Amino acid sequence: MTTFRLPFPFLLSIILIGTSHVYAAAPQFDQVGFSKFPGAGLRETTGGQGGRVFNVTSSKELEAAVKGSDSKTIYIQGNIALSRALGVGPNTSLLGVGSGATITRSGISIKNVTNVIVRNLKISKILGDDGIEIRNSTRVWIDHNEFESDCCGGGPDKYDGQVDIVRASDWITVSWNYFHDHWKASLVGNSDALRSVDTGHLHVTYHHNYWRHEGTRGPAGRFGTQHVYNNLYVDYLHQVIHSRSDNQVLVEGNVFRGNCTEALSTYGLVIPMDSPNTSVNGDEEIDGYANLGAVNDWGTCKTNITRVGTFTKAPYPYTLTPLAEVEQLVKAGAGIGKLQF
Ligand SMILES: *[C@@H]1O[C@H](CO)[C@@H](O)[C@H](O)[C@H]1NC(C)=O
Ligand SMILES: *[C@@H]1O[C@H](CO)[C@@H](O)[C@H](O)[C@H]1NC(C)=O
Ligand SMILES: *[C@@H]1O[C@H](CO)[C@@H](O)[C@H](O)[C@H]1NC(C)=O
Ligand SMILES: *[C@@H]1O[C@H](CO)[C@@H](O)[C@H](O)[C@H]1NC(C)=O
Ligand SMILES: *[C@@H]1O[C@H](CO)[C@@H](O)[C@H](O)[C@H]1NC(C)=O
Ligand SMILES: *[C@@H]1O[C@H](CO)[C@@H](O)[C@H](O)[C@H]1NC(C)=O
Ligand SMILES: *[C@@H]1O[C@H](CO)[C@@H](O)[C@H](O)[C@H]1NC(C)=O
Repeated sequence: MTTFRLPFPFLLSIILIGTSHVYAAAPQFDQVGFSKFPGAGLRETTGGQGGRVFNVTSSKELEAAVKGSDSKTIYIQGNIALSRALGVGPNTSLLGVGSGATITRSGISIKNVTNVIVRNLKISKILGDDGIEIRNSTRVWIDHNEFESDCCGGGPDKYDGQVDIVRASDWITVSWNYFHDHWKASLVGNSDALRSVDTGHLHVTYHHNYWRHEGTRGPAGRFGTQHVYNNLYVDYLHQVIHSRSDNQVLVEGNVFRGNCTEALSTYGLVIPMDSPNTSVNGDEEIDGYANLGAVNDWGTCKTNITRVGTFTKAPYPYTLTPLAEVEQLVKAGAGIGKLQF
């Protein structure tokens, strides 16, 4: 489906780097992580596989196609300006065709459903709504999309999140996306008052995403469990990975470049630059937890790890990209137009 040249130095590094990890020979665009290996008794995320196929070119056709729980794969062509959030039914794949499938005005809403895949779509400048909101939903794979607005003259609340994952959603992978020019990137758990709703859920894998010129939340989690590996962060303005309210993160093999203040914090404070709700000086929350796996390249960023957690090992097979290859590989492989639909 997709071909890639092997970066030359890789051949050397496979010989020289001796760790317990298995290293990749080329980008792996197959599904990995929590969406592929959900909790006991659940099947991997397959979206609309085996079902009806739709080709859509308008919001009207798209809105009609996403309804119902029958399995369906929907190929989206061209720009679709949604007049309201697109409520996606279960067992659905939304696949952008070529490198020009774009969603504007309103976002994609994955609510109260299971088994949804979104790939190869550009989602831009969604006002008054998230780019993608995943709420009370399980088994979701968000892969090879581009999320873009304008950053950051309008402040943190001009737009909402790019990919927000809330209300006990679970078993999600966010991979190979290009997140750029936006303030609040990806929130996992949207209130410190939702402990009883969210605890035990919000298992999310973030891998090989390219985040450039963003404000905060790459991601920010509460009460859940996130595995954040092999992401590339360039010119992040305020705070990148935030783990708070007893959230657990395993952070490994990520690369930080350009301007950067804080790459990872488990200090509970919701900083003033991240739209705190109750105080202009930031909201006080209980700290989160973090573990560091394979070495990260923090660039010029600082870290503030106040509590080391129990999430030390991802419960599924995955292949780490060698740290020295991450920047090149993620830039080449993330975003739209890399898959052939
Ligand atoms: C969708 O479009 C593709 C390529 O243009 C075509 O091969 C296929 O037959 C179409 N499918 C439907 C259900 O219209
Ligand atoms: C579609 O989703 C529902 C859950 O909403 C599930 O019960 C059903 O088995 C799914 N159908 C297929 C064909 O996967
Ligand atoms: C999701 O389920 C809740 C509780 O049953 C309901 O209030 C809400 O309207 C549902 N949302 C959608 C989009 O179906
Ligand atoms: C969550 O979604 C399920 C359907 O999958 C629904 O039965 C339930 O009421 C929803 N719960 C909430 C709190 O929205
Ligand atoms: C980095 O920050 C400095 C000072 O705010 C700014 O002048 C410069 O343009 C920034 N560089 C990039 C690449 O954003
Ligand atoms: C790091 O966390 C501690 C709380 O444990 C806090 O007092 C300190 O201000 C934090 N440092 C930064 C730079 O935010
Ligand atoms: C802000 O805080 C108030 C009071 O704690 C709460 O009712 C409200 O839902 C919060 N809003 C958001 C967006 O979190």
